[in-house]
Amino acid sequence: MSNAYYIEPVQPVLRRFVEDFRNIVDRYRGTDELLDRLKAPTRDLLYDPSWITEEFRQPIPDATASWAVYRSQEPDLCIFTMVVPAGSETKVHNHLTDGWVGLVQGAQVERKFHRVDDHSRPGYARLELVSQDPIDLGELTPLKHPDEDIHQVLTASDVPSVSLHVLCNDLGTVERQLFVPHEDHVEDFVSGYSNIDPGAGIGR
Ligand SMILES: [Fe+2]
Repeated sequence: MSNAYYIEPVQPVLRRFVEDFRNIVDRYRGTDELLDRLKAPTRDLLYDPSWITEEFRQPIPDATASWAVYRSQEPDLCIFTMVVPAGSETKVHNHLTDGWVGLVQGAQVERKFHRVDDHSRPGYARLELVSQDPIDLGELTPLKHPDEDIHQVLTASDVPSVSLHVLCNDLGTVERQLFVPHEDHVEDFVSGYSNIDPGAGIGR
């Protein structure tokens, strides 16, 4: 258990990724190209999973675990794994930034949603299901704020699914939204990270 909000990347593959990420962000920040440019280094990270040790694959019964691997001080980059137990699903949620998700273990189904109301009523959000697709091992799927930012992930394997997340914020500390589509309900939440004390780094 770490209380630190800034975790140094010790493994070479992670250090390389963070260097690549910094160079790409310096060059393409704020452009439409940023997400595409980040895909190749994210794929390299996904295809050399030596850094995804047991501690980052641990399920938490009846919960979605998110294990922080690296968080930049800025905070404009976080790398974490998400572990969803067999037979479980995440809540429908957003991320408020761009990034990539890659499947490391198991199988998943991803449901993508569009928000179609005008955001004017507190607690109310109307979502439409856009797609429901199986995610295979080694597959990378994009998250793009705001148009491709709302989704739900279900584990479709009899082992927990483990996915790598690379996002352009410090997701666990960001106030964002979860949705209950069949009730047209939305609420704010801060997800935190399963291996970091609640409150560590939040609000800085
Ligand atoms: Fe997500």
